[in-house]
Amino acid sequence: MRPRSALPARAPAPGEPPLRLRRLRRTRALREWVAETDVELRRLVYPVFVRPGAGGPEPIASLPGVDRYSVPDLGKLAAALRSEGIRAVLVFGVGRRKDPDGTDAWAKDGVVPQAVRAMKRAAPELIIATDVCLCAYTSHGHCGVVRAGAVDNDATCERLGRVARVHAEAGAEVVAPSAMMDGQVARIRAALDQGGYDSTAILAYASKHASAFYGPFREAEQSAPEFGDRRGYQMDYRNGREALRELEQDAAEGADLVMVKPALTSLDLLARARRRLAVPLAAYQVSGEYAMIKAAAARGVVEERPAVEETLGAIRRAGADLIVTYFAREFARWTREDP
Ligand code: PBG
Repeated sequence: MRPRSALPARAPAPGEPPLRLRRLRRTRALREWVAETDVELRRLVYPVFVRPGAGGPEPIASLPGVDRYSVPDLGKLAAALRSEGIRAVLVFGVGRRKDPDGTDAWAKDGVVPQAVRAMKRAAPELIIATDVCLCAYTSHGHCGVVRAGAVDNDATCERLGRVARVHAEAGAEVVAPSAMMDGQVARIRAALDQGGYDSTAILAYASKHASAFYGPFREAEQSAPEFGDRRGYQMDYRNGREALRELEQDAAEGADLVMVKPALTSLDLLARARRRLAVPLAAYQVSGEYAMIKAAAARGVVEERPAVEETLGAIRRAGADLIVTYFAREFARWTREDP
């Protein structure tokens, strides 16, 4: 047998290309046949914003098409999502009251525990993940407890453990800490286990950069910091090796899944993490990424569906197993109506 490398096609004649990769691009059937990756609906996670009180869905100006729901509406929403083929949601609560420590975040009757119960009742198979952070509950809007003008890491981790436990108690299968405190995953794991919630999984926002693309989310959550910014805990976007250390550390602390965000600015990290880690990998196509496509589509500058498919496709190609995206419902509808 000749070695593979010595199996050339006939030598190209002068002026002929050595390789004709266009052969498999010639027809749609061929392209579909050899496509390397797909964005399957089962991989998408839909973010759900929950506000206190009652009353119908409230639009969010900076996130067109995304609403803030009150608890009484969530049963209906959960059932609708399931029937549309959505498998999982990521729940964000807005505090009923805000104080310096964010105490409403771990109230047993808080907005998120109530939301989880309502959704679980209506759609038991819908997987519920909850965002675990303090920023929508603190009066200053930071992701943790502030002591002497700075976010106190260890005191915050202790609070995050309580938040996670309350979410688990309500029935969330997955808790997703996003505060970027050191040691938060280990602390939450311990709090869950001590509370008897050893089967509740942790999806760690492990590589989270301080980003210009969280703006619309902060309007949705009313969680913009009152002073300073989040660069004292979220990562500098210039750092990739540091992101890998965060990912490895969170996996070592017991994260069941790890996430990178924003997605489109982290494709390199997804690809590197895919090779280095065996844990399932998620990417968060954040609010600003969504809003940009929406704005461009509204102005007729890009076509929405192909733009969304291309970005989600690139995130998959880079290595994400799961993608959190505000486009999940529209993606489901597009594939339903015109596969
Ligand atoms: C909470 C949190 C944020 C996002 C997810 N969890 C905001 C932030 O860190 O400022 C951003 C999600 C988005 O922009 O869609 N800490």
